[in-house]
Amino acid sequence: MKITVIGAGNVGATAALRIAEKQLAKEVVLIDIVEGVPQGKALDMYESGSVGLFDTCVWGSNDYKDSADSDIILITAGLARKPGMTREDLLMKNATIIKGVTTEVMKYSKNPIIVMVSNPVDIMTYVAWKVSGLPKERVIGMGGVLDTARYKTFIAEALNVSMQDISALVLGGHGDAMVPVVNYTNVSGIPLTELLPQDKIDALVERTRNGGIEIVNYLKTGSAFYAPAASAVEMIEAIVKDRKRILPCTTLLNNQYGIEDVFCGVPVKLGKNGIEQILELNLSATELAGLQRSATIVDENCKSLNELIG
Ligand code: NAI
Ligand code: 2OP
Repeated sequence: MKITVIGAGNVGATAALRIAEKQLAKEVVLIDIVEGVPQGKALDMYESGSVGLFDTCVWGSNDYKDSADSDIILITAGLARKPGMTREDLLMKNATIIKGVTTEVMKYSKNPIIVMVSNPVDIMTYVAWKVSGLPKERVIGMGGVLDTARYKTFIAEALNVSMQDISALVLGGHGDAMVPVVNYTNVSGIPLTELLPQDKIDALVERTRNGGIEIVNYLKTGSAFYAPAASAVEMIEAIVKDRKRILPCTTLLNNQYGIEDVFCGVPVKLGKNGIEQILELNLSATELAGLQRSATIVDENCKSLNELIG
C-alpha cells in the first residue's frame, strides 16, 4: 500500500503522521509546492517512527513523479479559511489548484482512490472526479465524518457520556447548510430526543453547523486540522482494511434522495473499492428539504466552474 498526501500543511502533515502511526501503508509520500517543507516534515515524522511507533517509510518531495503507483491519494493542497471567509470564498483559487494537482497525480497513478479534503470539499471532489476521469466510487470527499465528529463531541459533552456511545450522522454539503440528522442520533440505542429537550438539541445542531468557524475564530490564521486529519484517516483506514464502514462521505448522487448528478454528503459503505454502496435513509420532510437545499448550493458552485474544468 502506497499513500500519497498532497499538501504538507496542517491537515496533510497531521494526516500523514496518523497514517504512519496506524501503519496503514508501507510508504507515505508527502508532496507540496513549497521546496523543503514536505521533505523536512516527512523526515521528522520518519525519525519519530524509531521511537517504537512504526516502520512505515515517510518521505517528502516536490515532484509528482514520486507519487507514482499510489493506491490512495489524499488531497489537502490549497488555501484554508481565515476569519470572515466562507468555504465558498476559497472556490476559484482552490479549484485551480485541485485541477492542477489532479492532472499531475493522474499522470503517475493508474487507478488510485482519491480522498479529497481541500475546501469547499464537495465542489473540489467534483473537480477531482471530472479532471481525473476516475469512476465516481473512487473519488470521495471528507466533510461528513468531521461534521459528525463535532456533533458527537458536543452531544457527549452535553450528556456527560462517552463519545464512543454516540451514534450520529451529519449529511449534506460540508457547509453552513449541512444537515445533522437528529432522528438518526442515539446514545447506545436511546434516541437523543429522549435524553435532551428540543432547545438543547437545536443548540447542539447549530454549534455543529458552526464547528469549523468556531476553530477559525480561535486560530485566526488558519482552520481546524486535528479532527479533519483524524476524519480523513478514518476513511482511509476503512478503505485500506476493507472494513465496510458506514460513514457520511461526499459522493456523486444519481437520484438518491431525489438529487441528480451532484456531489453531496450521504452515508456510504467504504471498503477496498472506495464507495461500495450509497445508503438511503427515511428522512423527515424537513431533513430531506435541507439535504436537497445543501445539494443545490453545491450544484450551483460546480456549475460556476464550467469554464475552468469544462
Ligand atoms: P495549510 O495552509 O496548512 O496547508 C495547505 C498546503 O497546501 C500548504 O502547505 C501549501 O503549500 C500547499 N499547496 C498549495 N498549493 C499547492 C499545490 N498547487 N500543490 C501542492 N501543494 C500546494 O492548510 P490546511 O489547514 O492543511 O488545509 C488544507 C485544505 O483543507 C484547505 O482548503 C482547508 O479549507 C481544507 N480543509 C477541509 C476540511 C474538510 O472537512 N473537508 C477540514 C479542514 C481543512
Ligand atoms: C472545517 O470545518 C475549515 O472545513 C474546515 O474546520
